[in-house]
This record gives sequence, structure tokens and C-alpha cells, in this order.
Amino acid sequence: MSAKLAGHVAIVTGAGRGIGRGYALRLARLGAAVAVVDRDLRSYEEFAADRELMTAAGTAEEIEALGGRALAIEADLSDARSASQMVGQVMDAFGGIDVCVCNAGGGTGELSGNTASRLDLDQLTTVFDRNLLTTVNTCMPVAEVMRGQHSGKIVNVSSVSGLEPRSDGGYTHYAVAKAAIIMYTQCLAQELGPEGVTANVIAPGAIGTGRLLPKMRQQGLDEVTRGIALRRLGTVEDCAGVIEFLATNQSDYVTGQVIRVDGGLRG
Ligand SMILES: NC(=O)c1ccc[n+]([C@@H]2O[C@H](COP(=O)([O-])OP(=O)(O)OC[C@H]3O[C@@H](n4cnc5c(N)ncnc54)[C@H](O)[C@@H]3O)[C@@H](O)[C@H]2O)c1
Repeated sequence: MSAKLAGHVAIVTGAGRGIGRGYALRLARLGAAVAVVDRDLRSYEEFAADRELMTAAGTAEEIEALGGRALAIEADLSDARSASQMVGQVMDAFGGIDVCVCNAGGGTGELSGNTASRLDLDQLTTVFDRNLLTTVNTCMPVAEVMRGQHSGKIVNVSSVSGLEPRSDGGYTHYAVAKAAIIMYTQCLAQELGPEGVTANVIAPGAIGTGRLLPKMRQQGLDEVTRGIALRRLGTVEDCAGVIEFLATNQSDYVTGQVIRVDGGLRG
């Protein structure tokens, strides 16, 4: 294993499957001890493409099989007390937190639904809980730890949807939640900068995860990739490369930034 993050401790939320699993594996390969956190550590069972990728019973077990250190924690991070307990468990196990990737999230409903004037308020609450609250609930206790250490790197996960509206005005609930994560992170960066802690955002575009690939195939991959300069879907590894930059000393003078990982998506 590369030693770039040897002796470091990372938390990755929503790491039971999909992009979060990729972040956890990447940080472990860089030498970090990784807390794999998810409300369902077997969430990969839901989608065939996620199931097929698994090489062990869960992401933490996969890391251990690679020779890394991992801690599996099942917690619903939309609950502030559970998030705080999770951070306590990580501190008990590893004694510090150097990197925290708040990746838990996702949308619900049809892409063209939830226009700004016709929001489903139950879905709005669900999506705010799943994205903004999980992020805030995790960042607050993590920030206290990092403040005490005078070091740390927080990476929050938004989306290109948090930067630009869809042309049909759909999926407003998700867009607004992901936009709020950007501003929350930028506020965090200002507050924690003097303490030596950075906070940045990754904003993925269309990433071919187990959850989304079947939908994209149904829509037609040519149609989906037409608006992408690189003419392909993004991969989990494309996102993990940017996480590697934001989690290591390569990004020490970078804070309050949003990095799009979208292959040059327009429209
Ligand atoms: N896949 C994409 O194309 C894409 C694009 C832009 C942004 N994103 C964002 O990237 C992140 C990961 O996306 P993905 O496609 O891998 O999603 P996914 O649905 O496959 O995985 C999300 C994981 O988060 C977990 N989770 C959800 N709510 C939680 C909660 N309250 N507490 C703890 N864990 C919770 C789920 O159990 C799941 O394992 C999400 O924040 C998503 O919004 C994804």
C-alpha cells in the first residue's frame, strides 16, 4: 500500500456501496485507517451492479482483506445524536480524525418531478435529511475534534445539480439540498481555516454507479453522454482521484473550493 496517508484516520459516510465505497477503498489503499459508516452497511445488496463489485461481506471487510485497518459503523446520520456517537466510536478506536468525507446522500422521485413550484414536501424533507442534515450532523462533531488537533480535512459531497438547475426545472429538492451543502462547507472553511482545518466540496456529474447505471441505460447512454465533453459517464475512480487530492497534503492550501468531476458536462 502507498504510504501517503499512513498513520492517518479517515471517516467516509455512505460507504456501504457506490461512490462512498470507492472513496473508502482509495483512502485505505493510501494507508489510512478508515471508518466505514452507513445507515445500512449492506446497502450494496439493493442493486446488482453494486453486489457484483463486492469482494467481501462489506466495505470494511474488503479493506481488512487488503491488509488495511477499518471500523464498520452502522448509523443513520440524519439523526444528530447517532452522528455524534459515531464520531465518538471513531475516536475511541483510532484516537483522531484526519479526513472526513461526508458522502451519504442521494435523491428521490422522478428527475423531472419536484419542480420549484410543485415540490412534494415529504420528498423535500427526505432529501434534506439525507444530504444536508447527514453532512451537518457529521461535520459538527468532526470539526470539534479537528479544531482540537489544529489539523484536518473535511470533504463534503454536493453534485453538479447543486451548481446549476436542470433545464426542465426538475429535481429542485435535491438541487437545493446540494447547493446548501456548498454554502455550509464554505462557511465551515472560513470558520475553521484559522484552526488549520480545510473544508472543500466535490461535485460529481453523471457517475455510473449501481444505482444509476440501469436508469441511464434505459434512457440510452448516447443520449446521457451527448452533453458531456469527454463523451462518457464518470466512474467511481474518477471521483476517488479528486478525493485523494483533497485528502492528502497535495491540497494543503486549498479550502472553501468546489471541484466538479463531470467530464465537462453542459446543459
Ligand atoms: N452517482 C452519481 O452520479 C452522483 C452524482 C452527483 C452526486 N452524487 C452524490 O454522491 C454521493 C454518493 O452517490 P452514490 O451514487 O454512490 O449513492 P448511493 O445511493 O449508491 O449510496 C449512498 C449511500 O449512502 C447511504 N446513506 C443514505 N442516507 C444515509 C443516512 N441517513 N445515514 C447514513 N448513510 C446513509 C446509503 O445507505 C448508501 O449506502 C451522494 O451524496 C450523491 O448525492 C452522486
